[in-house]
Amino acid sequence: MKGKSYSFTTVLNDYPMEEGSLIPLLQQAQEAFGYISEETVEMIADHLGFTSSQVFGVASFYSQFRFTKPAKHSISVCLGTACHVSGGETLLEAFERELDVVPGQNTTDNKFGLSRVACLGCCALAPVVKIDDDIHSKVTVIKLKELWERYE
Ligand code: FES
Repeated sequence: MKGKSYSFTTVLNDYPMEEGSLIPLLQQAQEAFGYISEETVEMIADHLGFTSSQVFGVASFYSQFRFTKPAKHSISVCLGTACHVSGGETLLEAFERELDVVPGQNTTDNKFGLSRVACLGCCALAPVVKIDDDIHSKVTVIKLKELWERYE
């Protein structure tokens, strides 16, 4: 993410006021802020002469764009076949209970975001949980609390 001095207005002015600028502007905003806020949607809409719902409609079509602020730490629980049969679903439920969120949500303090993923590519280590860039292998429910306390 870019620093606070980053001005999205400057970025807007680098792009012509035409339809072809929409996706590149959304990508710039996603890269700069980590997500597309309502304010960003409005700024892009104003610049290109669209309505906010038109811009949101296009952006929501692409899975690369997020619409919620990223949490400080992202927890991805693998539910691919190997992890699923090794207890991945139980791990996900334990995270949901402890953090009081469902996949796709962040905790109220925005410290953790929870998501489910299909396969993290290290099936021999199942069940696997990824927290930020760290892969945790052969995770058990008992190990969970100790695991996320490391990230507080
Ligand atoms: S199924 Fe979980 S890492 Fe492949």
